[in-house]
Amino acid sequence: MATTAEPAQARRELDDLQKLVALCKRRGFVFPSAEIYGGFANTYDYGPLGVLLKNNVRDAWIRAVVQRRDDVDLLDAAIITNPRVWEASGHVEQFNDPLVECRGECKSRFRADQIDATKCPNCGGPLSEPRMFNTMFQTYVGPTHEEHDIAYLRPETAQGMFVNFANVASTMRRRLPFGIAQIGKSFRNEITPGNFVFRTLEFEQMELEFFVEPGTDEEWFERWVDERERWYVNLGIRRENLRRYEHPKDKLSHYSKRTIDIEYRFPFGEGWGELEGIANRSKGPEDSSFDLWQHEQHSGQRMTLFDEEKKQHIRPGVVEPAAGLTRAALTFLIDSFEEEMLDPAKNDMRTVLHLHPAISPYKACVLPQYRNKPDLVRVARQVYEDLRRRWMIAYDSGSNIGKLYRRQDEIGTPFCITVDFQTLEDNKVTIRDRDSMDQSRFGRVPIVELRAWMESQLDY
Ligand code: GAP
Repeated sequence: MATTAEPAQARRELDDLQKLVALCKRRGFVFPSAEIYGGFANTYDYGPLGVLLKNNVRDAWIRAVVQRRDDVDLLDAAIITNPRVWEASGHVEQFNDPLVECRGECKSRFRADQIDATKCPNCGGPLSEPRMFNTMFQTYVGPTHEEHDIAYLRPETAQGMFVNFANVASTMRRRLPFGIAQIGKSFRNEITPGNFVFRTLEFEQMELEFFVEPGTDEEWFERWVDERERWYVNLGIRRENLRRYEHPKDKLSHYSKRTIDIEYRFPFGEGWGELEGIANRSKGPEDSSFDLWQHEQHSGQRMTLFDEEKKQHIRPGVVEPAAGLTRAALTFLIDSFEEEMLDPAKNDMRTVLHLHPAISPYKACVLPQYRNKPDLVRVARQVYEDLRRRWMIAYDSGSNIGKLYRRQDEIGTPFCITVDFQTLEDNKVTIRDRDSMDQSRFGRVPIVELRAWMESQLDY
């Protein structure tokens, strides 16, 4: 891949999250939800570029976890499902956070396990005793709001994969090991300090349940931790901003034998924060899946596979790499952000997102060198029409070429393809590289070869 070279200057990284928040709003990545009503706590809307970014993160995950493997299938399960699922999984009883409230001026609420204080961090007032509250959102299904109508918005996508385990295994004729992958919204009634989209009430997860022969779960766990860490690095996250955090044995979730978080060094809070959690959910009998075992107990249905060789039913173990799509999108933005001083004398600074081309909203922008020259505009539009049959491409002619380049830098577009007067003679275009700003690096590329050129640049 020819782009994303590190610029020569030391990178001025994101030092203040508010700069990114402002960029996201200005350029249509993320808006505060219902802003005309003053917004809504921990809730955001994804704008035109945010949707493209998220879709690209999703596609890159599917490519790595499903498309390029032989052993994983996709699923899209319901968000509101039978509430007995959440009883069996332990969420009704155990999905609790400790809440403390300020009894002083500000009445703020905090998660007791996330503050290290006996007084309110906002106003210094006294804090209440911690009380546990369940973070699942409740709703009612049907016209009456009786106790037995209560249902939940899913707090993780994982359970959809456990309850469909046998359906997927039989329809896809799977043997161990095999995985089920799912991407979709999850919901949690979070108390959060408000670090933009890091922790929100509704968010998207990308989860894999990888079912394995009992006894091989620990080995598969190690493999998946490596695999998932590599995914972020391959997509441009700098290795020094990643680390692993092993959950202490006495703090593990009720279903987990072992959990490692891949953490990222975020520019807020205490810095390091969870990006993805990989759990060995094989805490059922004989190293089998805790969740399959629980669903077996609660539903009375067998949650096993029949092993033809051993002539017996086997309940597999399971390893779960659980990533946040929206949190990953935020991380790609943070890690790729740079303010690059080009000319200190003129205080000329460009803001650039060094996004991996697989993640960037647009793969290229086509620009006529002069917007008021009909011949240039005609050819630029032709190039644009051709390329956008295949990729998300931007077209811009609204300003002078220097400003147009800067506009694309700010949203992470890796290539700017310029149609100039020479193009009218030689049918070739100039391509500017986002990271180096070099316009000669690729030479002049013939229009007829542009698609193949793009194909080679975007392959990864
Ligand atoms: N099925 C296991 C599970 O849900 P988790 O660690 O609670 O595990 C997995 O969640 C990932 O989902 C986290 O690493 C994070 O990326 C993302 N996530 C969790 N809660 C979130 C929230 N409130 N807002 C945004 N992302 C969240």
